[in-house]
Amino acid sequence: MYNDNPTLKDLPKKIDETKQGEVYFTEGTKGGKKFYIESYGCQMNFSDSEIVASILAETGYSPTRNLEESDLILINTCSIREKAEDTVRKRLRIFDKVKTKKPGTIVGVLGCMAERLKAKFLDQEKLVDLVVGPDAYRDLPKLIATADEGEKGVNVFLSREETYADISPLRLGSNGVSAFISITRGCDNMCSFCVVPFTRGRERSRNAFSIVAEATDLYARGYREVTLLGQNVDSYKWENPETKEKVSFATLLKMVAAVHPDLRVRFSTSHPKDITDEVLFAIRDYENICKYIHLPVQSGNSRILELMNRTYDREWYKAKIDRIYELIPDCAISSDIIAGFCSETEEEHQDTLSMITYANYSTSYMFYYSERPGTLAAKKYEDDIPLATKKKRLQEIIYLQNDVSRKVNQQDIGKTFKVLIEGDSKKSDQDFKGRNTQNKMIIFPKVAGHQPGDYVQVKVKEATSATLKGEMV
Ligand code: 5AD
Ligand code: SF4
Repeated sequence: MYNDNPTLKDLPKKIDETKQGEVYFTEGTKGGKKFYIESYGCQMNFSDSEIVASILAETGYSPTRNLEESDLILINTCSIREKAEDTVRKRLRIFDKVKTKKPGTIVGVLGCMAERLKAKFLDQEKLVDLVVGPDAYRDLPKLIATADEGEKGVNVFLSREETYADISPLRLGSNGVSAFISITRGCDNMCSFCVVPFTRGRERSRNAFSIVAEATDLYARGYREVTLLGQNVDSYKWENPETKEKVSFATLLKMVAAVHPDLRVRFSTSHPKDITDEVLFAIRDYENICKYIHLPVQSGNSRILELMNRTYDREWYKAKIDRIYELIPDCAISSDIIAGFCSETEEEHQDTLSMITYANYSTSYMFYYSERPGTLAAKKYEDDIPLATKKKRLQEIIYLQNDVSRKVNQQDIGKTFKVLIEGDSKKSDQDFKGRNTQNKMIIFPKVAGHQPGDYVQVKVKEATSATLKGEMV
């Protein structure tokens, strides 16, 4: 889900060929100016790049995956960990070389890192022409025109209203089957480790009707799966300005699920404090709302959770896990975990390990703590766990999670799942890949007459920690 380190050689032929995806493209139209865009970080960033692409297309730019032929090189950046920022700096060095070969090429930094570093970017990275924050993409045509005249284009204003609700994202390089729909922007939680509230601003929810309209349009164009995106989807709330009717996240889920029974609905990310029984009932009751919840725990220890300002403790989180499995026994749950947060003891780390076993996560995104300037933790706590200890703890977390994932997956052997075909498997064009409702990837031999976008029944024969293998029945 997170992409800290893609390289040019990994450029996908199709976006769905990468695990995490990094570059969006389609064949450019003949003539006219071309843009190239690379994305890092969360799914929200990838979704934003599609909004940017749509704005650029309106301005007459067409997309390309060839750096050398582009007139405009954009990098949509992530600030979540230092490593993500380092990767972006390395990429900028490469763009510099392209620019030296082809003077006049405009290089722009978008997203969280643009927001965090603002005009400082222009001093540090002399060859950057544009610095545009996540709420300023509508200004891109104007900023590009400024850059064309040799001036620097900067807009990092954060908005309280911008949701890009009226912009139809350009689904570049998409597999034509699954698409992201962003439903909220920004974040009002103040997790002490996290830079997002500073880079993406205050939380706002998008007009529910524009979300349903986007899902309806996608379905009509052959898409069969949408993922509703937000930093904290469960806190979605929107009021119809005419009727004053309030739409909660559970209501929104049901509205999108009602678009068509063959349109699968996924969502990410859920905050344990905000996910309600009403949402769980919707997942239970609607066949097309997927039985998969990404419910980051961050730490399994109550003292650390308090320092992280997560607003729940270990017991509360465990009760939430119990409730999910009680209402939806076949639900898959995944997590985000941070190893080595400020002052974490060995015993407290053990609590995180035991939480992985308790929650029986199908998978987790695991990181060691990386102090981010300006965050509450950076101001209040010392980043005192040695890097070697952080890495060792992370290794233990990864090792245990892999073991749990393998066991969870092996329990699927012999079961038959409804799978949405997404395309050819990475390893062989004789095989399809697709996912079941629990978001598990299943690889199976192709059978004539079936194509991406079809639902098929697949019986699982083998399982590793990462994938299931099976056969159509
Ligand atoms: N250091 C390490 N991991 C972090 N995350 C967020 N901020 C940090 C940080 N400073 C992780 C959290 C979050 C995920 C998106 O990234 O686990 O859920
Ligand atoms: Fe990275 Fe967070 Fe920004 Fe997404 S919102 S790009 S994860 S810093």
